[in-house]
Amino acid sequence: MVRIKKKPDQLAFFAQQFTPARHLFNLVLVGVIGLIVCMFLILQEKEERMMGSSSMGSMGAHALSTTALSIATTSKKPPHLVYGTAWKKDDTAHYVHEAIKAGFRHIDTACQPKHYNEAGVGNGWTEAAQELGLDRNDIWLQTKFTAPNGQDPNNMPYDASAPLKEQMLTSLETSLKNLQTTYLNSWVLHSPLPTMDQTMEAWKIMEHELENGRVRQLGISNCYSLEQFQSIYNQATIKPKVLQNRFYQESNFDTELRQFCKEHGITYQSFWTLTANRKALHSSELTALATSHGETAQTYMYAFLMSLGYITPLCGTTDLDHMKQDVAVVKRIQQGDVLFAGDDELRAFAKLLHMPDL
Ligand SMILES: NC(=O)c1ccc[n+]([C@@H]2O[C@H](COP(=O)([O-])OP(=O)(O)OC[C@H]3O[C@@H](n4cnc5c(N)ncnc54)[C@H](OP(=O)(O)O)[C@@H]3O)[C@@H](O)[C@H]2O)c1
Repeated sequence: MVRIKKKPDQLAFFAQQFTPARHLFNLVLVGVIGLIVCMFLILQEKEERMMGSSSMGSMGAHALSTTALSIATTSKKPPHLVYGTAWKKDDTAHYVHEAIKAGFRHIDTACQPKHYNEAGVGNGWTEAAQELGLDRNDIWLQTKFTAPNGQDPNNMPYDASAPLKEQMLTSLETSLKNLQTTYLNSWVLHSPLPTMDQTMEAWKIMEHELENGRVRQLGISNCYSLEQFQSIYNQATIKPKVLQNRFYQESNFDTELRQFCKEHGITYQSFWTLTANRKALHSSELTALATSHGETAQTYMYAFLMSLGYITPLCGTTDLDHMKQDVAVVKRIQQGDVLFAGDDELRAFAKLLHMPDL
């Protein structure tokens, strides 16, 4: 064995390096570097919250398997459906409970008693969570502020004559109470207000609630003008992370708005997805295509939208078999099953829907 003998002058050099003063200096240096790294991480987290990125909690972050697709974007969030709770009235708690039992984890509602039973959503998700051993972090809750012109004047969730700020804060507090939670994963302005100034006034109030920690991301719904949406986006300090719109031919399938969402990391949440495209979904060509992939026309439609990477369809089924089928197609995509092998297949499907472009 070869032994390396250190020369006396080398030993003296090392001894010199490790004097107590030098040791103390090294400790302080390591401490300062650690402090700088911690501050950097804290600032980064704060910036992410300011940008409105939602925590998926224990749902984790997945990359959408889109290796074969160049049109599709890759999203940090796992592809999923959002369970919609409109028009379920007294059965809301029951259907939300069943949806969560079937595997849905994302719920959409609104503080708008005319169409939504928000308290029923709160009862439904908490009962399901108790039964399944889930907690608040396992469930993603989104609700909306609806302006007076979208409410039933005989069933208002706030005083319509109060200033906008008071209306919005009462609405938010009612939502938190109804949903039995201290925070919302997503708070959506149900539609732009009559003027741009009013819309931005509402947006600033929403931003303030995000900064306060009662809300984790902001969105807007029923905004069908690209110009208006861009204007909100440009004026907002905390950018919208959701655009919830009707997905149908009459609005040209929001082609330009969707492009904007795709380019700016905004999730496009579609509603009327099945209802408004019923004719196309019943065509023999589309049905045959879906069947060849082991799906129904409806679940294949959801798969098409999720495969684009930035669209999350809302689904309000009350049929327990449909719930299971819908959850199953989400799982297939999350597991990497390629239901659209490339851009050509996406384009071919889009053509069957009469979409002008992807
Ligand atoms: N922001 C807004 O202004 C706005 C407006 C409207 C809706 N929304 C939201 O969007 C949610 C969804 O509403 P929606 O209008 O899009 O329609 P929907 O409530 O999801 O209705 C879908 C229709 O398709 C049928 N269907 C057939 N096969 C299905 C399948 N495999 N999975 C799901 N449905 C299937 C359903 O019937 P079955 O029940 O028999 O399955 C139902 O009649 C609402 O609950 C609400 O949360 C928001």
